[in-house]
Amino acid sequence: MAVLRIPDEDRTLSEFSEIKEYLAGIGIGYEIWKPTIEIDRDSSNEQILEAFAGEIETLKKQGGYQTADVINLFPDTPNLEPMLARFSKEHWHDEDEIRFITAGRGVFHIRPQDGSPVVALTVEEGDLARVPAGTWHWFDLCSDRRIRAIRLFQDPSGWTPHYTDSGKDAGYMPLCFGLDFIPSQLQQL
Ligand SMILES: [Fe+2]
Repeated sequence: MAVLRIPDEDRTLSEFSEIKEYLAGIGIGYEIWKPTIEIDRDSSNEQILEAFAGEIETLKKQGGYQTADVINLFPDTPNLEPMLARFSKEHWHDEDEIRFITAGRGVFHIRPQDGSPVVALTVEEGDLARVPAGTWHWFDLCSDRRIRAIRLFQDPSGWTPHYTDSGKDAGYMPLCFGLDFIPSQLQQL
């Protein structure tokens, strides 16, 4: 289950209802989904989508999403680090960013435009995060460099990050549950 940290206030929320309520207050959607069929590392992308077909259809109707796919990243995925670097700087999209995690984990930082504190939302298997269009945010994988996630799109061809160049991302370490993040630069030393 997710963990929500508010680094500037040295607070951590780990109860589902607390996390959901806090995120709703800053416009971020958070849900937990359970699969209708058993899935594991060997499941195909089609099986993953089938296991959550009901939730996906509901979300498509709610948000006007047209397509759903599965992204599956491993430490040895070609060009992983350049791909991750596109999203680890503060940015926003013209579309909602929907991620439902089926394996691995990652951390979203969100900087609300109302001036409330930056939050760090660590998501893992079973967690769905909905980051609305226009939200300032950035995303990192954890040190295990592993994630598998369902993505929903209104228009997959238009999904491009717009960078804020605020530099705010540099002030927050992407700690995954506070323990195991190692910056990729250090891993290469
Ligand atoms: Fe993004």
